[in-house]
Amino acid sequence: MGFVALGVTGSVSAYKAVEVVRGLQKNGHGVVVIMTASAQRFVGPLTFEAITGRDVITDQFASGLNSSVEHVSMATAIDALVVAPATANVIGKFANGIADDFLTSLHLVTRAPILMAPAMNSNMWAHIAVVRNLAILREGGVRFVEPETGELACGWTGPGRLAEPDRIVEAVEEAMRPAGSLIGRCILITAGPTYEDLDPVRYLGNRSTGRMGLALAREAARRGARVIFISGPIGLDLPQGIEIVKVRSASDMHSAVMAQKAEADAMILAAAVADYTPMDGPRSEKMSKFEETLALTFVRTPDILGDLGRWRGGREKPVLVGFAAETEEVVARARAKLSSKQADLIVANDVSRPDAGFAVETNAVTLVTAESETEVPLQAKREVARVILDRVGLLLTTRATVNAG
Ligand code: CTP
Repeated sequence: MGFVALGVTGSVSAYKAVEVVRGLQKNGHGVVVIMTASAQRFVGPLTFEAITGRDVITDQFASGLNSSVEHVSMATAIDALVVAPATANVIGKFANGIADDFLTSLHLVTRAPILMAPAMNSNMWAHIAVVRNLAILREGGVRFVEPETGELACGWTGPGRLAEPDRIVEAVEEAMRPAGSLIGRCILITAGPTYEDLDPVRYLGNRSTGRMGLALAREAARRGARVIFISGPIGLDLPQGIEIVKVRSASDMHSAVMAQKAEADAMILAAAVADYTPMDGPRSEKMSKFEETLALTFVRTPDILGDLGRWRGGREKPVLVGFAAETEEVVARARAKLSSKQADLIVANDVSRPDAGFAVETNAVTLVTAESETEVPLQAKREVARVILDRVGLLLTTRATVNAG
């Protein structure tokens, strides 16, 4: 369900990281492995590549990796940064803000929880420099899986042996455990475009990719909610641990949402639903070209959010959140939608900006309620999802009433 970056550094116990990867995968997490130069002297990247099914990052500036900015995009995508085994060297670099390779750069950029499992000689572990570095990192919120005491690879006996992989995996789970704010809640999210079929080979679609909806689903699941994710055709990897309903047309999406509406405590409609569909449905035969112009007649699709607003009437639940993709008068139009659809919150999206809206990883929105307008500046969709869910959480606890518009 989560996405973990696992840093492997240069210790004899680097081979044990393989078991950490397996344990995380068994729990349903995706793992990307980052190896420092010295780690590669102990284990080959191919081992990790084979078990993760992903490229192993071995070099900050490798071509094809989007080189120097890859650590920035990864930093916002991960749910945890784990370093196992962590040498005295990487602990020293993290503690002092040194960023001379991919792993240490990622450490400075990410805001995901960080967990380190140290492995080193007992005297190194007890050295004042290491003790000091550990204290600095602990103070900054880094968690540690303490090394075990036993026989070390160097022949000594004492503390410094890498913790068993099971313990490390357990600690990662703990670090990623949601704050729990949405435990016991069910959140229904729609995402992606809808496709209105014209004939057996053609359809009317739109540029939505489902990224914003997926970011919301991941974050809601991370906070402990049961998530029902109703999605039009999208090409994204979907996480485990959420309930996925795949649909194609606006009418399919309408039926899927209506079938589950009684389950949800909150509904966030992030899908870009087609407003029109061909009258009489798709043609059964492929349309051939023979005229110079083509005229098709379309009819309105059902308005899912509007129908939900009417169905809810004056009740307090579920909380209803809509999106408004606008190119001008963004807030005024969002406010009009808020009242016409009887929603509690409209997330207004200025899609005229090249860095926000469709097919990009970032978004800038304004949260519009009956009483307030809150600007959420440009940031990763994942961060925007956090802000939206904070607000939904608040609406859930204050048992939002339907606004009169
Ligand atoms: N929506 C819906 N069902 C539809 C169309 C839209 O539930 N048939 C939802 C979208 O998921 C979104 C909100 O309603 O949450 C967008 O509102 P809508 O009025 O459709 O906006 P646009 O089509 O973007 O704008 P306009 O009405 O100005 O064309």
